[in-house]
Amino acid sequence: MNNPKHFFLTGVFLVIAVTGSAGAMAAPALVKEKQCDTCHRFASGPAEKEQYGPDLFFAGDKFQKKWLENFLQHPEAIRPAGHTRDPGFLKGQRRTEPHPVLNSQETRQMTDYLMSLKTLKESPPLNLPALSKGARVRVKILFERDYSCIACHQSYNLAGLPRGGVSGPSLLDAGNRLRPEWVYQWLKNPKAFATQGRMPLYRFDEETLKQLTQYIMSHTKDDPGQ
Ligand code: HEC
Ligand code: HEC
Repeated sequence: MNNPKHFFLTGVFLVIAVTGSAGAMAAPALVKEKQCDTCHRFASGPAEKEQYGPDLFFAGDKFQKKWLENFLQHPEAIRPAGHTRDPGFLKGQRRTEPHPVLNSQETRQMTDYLMSLKTLKESPPLNLPALSKGARVRVKILFERDYSCIACHQSYNLAGLPRGGVSGPSLLDAGNRLRPEWVYQWLKNPKAFATQGRMPLYRFDEETLKQLTQYIMSHTKDDPGQ
């Protein structure tokens, strides 16, 4: 090692090794530093006891990037009664500690990392046509009466006011928050994402699946006129 040429070469390799991996390592390091993985799963498999937050290992399939960036800096309640994996959920004693908040630089890193986590092998863009007035009325009846989605999910009444149950995630801002391709896959087979979830299994035909997806995606906080 006394040979200066050797020393120089070792140095070059070290620099390559460190800079080469820095980008990929940054976000998982931030996950550890902020202890996100004490509450969330970043890979599939059995949940640990304390991991009572929603799964994030398919975040890139599920969320819209802009919504994620906003949530990480200004977290808001989506499941007003807590997550179903919270041991206090059924007893009405959900955990209520405030969600961690990230600064803008951390948010950029974390969003890029979360958007890279995917489980869907392919997710071609769904080009859903807007619902006609008649189709919209029919789907609303399916959502509220036939399938009772509203018993567990918040949506809007005809006056554009929130209504519905709180045991499932709120759908009030689904159009800004979720990707239609993921909603479609979720409704088709929730078991592909949540092995022990409380969302009932339905068998929709293709037309109903698409119409329900489009209906859910039309819910946004900025335009609640449903
Ligand atoms: C103390 C537990 C806890 C920690 C630590 C935590 N979270 Fe959460 N997180 C939750 C819970 C609970 C929710 C669900 C909130 C709701 O639905 O109202 C949530 C929701 C989320 C969501 C929205 C998920 C969805 O499906 O709606 C994202 C994204 C998220 N957290 C990312 C993070 C990141 C990134 C970190 C680390 C910086 C983190 N969380 C740290 C408990 C935690
Ligand atoms: C018995 C209560 C219940 C009913 C009825 C129900 N859901 Fe759900 N749903 C849930 C729960 C709980 C989750 C969260 C899944 C989990 O994390 O296990 C969920 C998740 C979802 C999601 C994903 C939202 C997110 O942010 O993760 C969508 C979309 C959805 N449901 C739509 C529907 C539609 C459409 C219907 C009716 C056809 C319906 N649900 C009926 C309980 C219900």
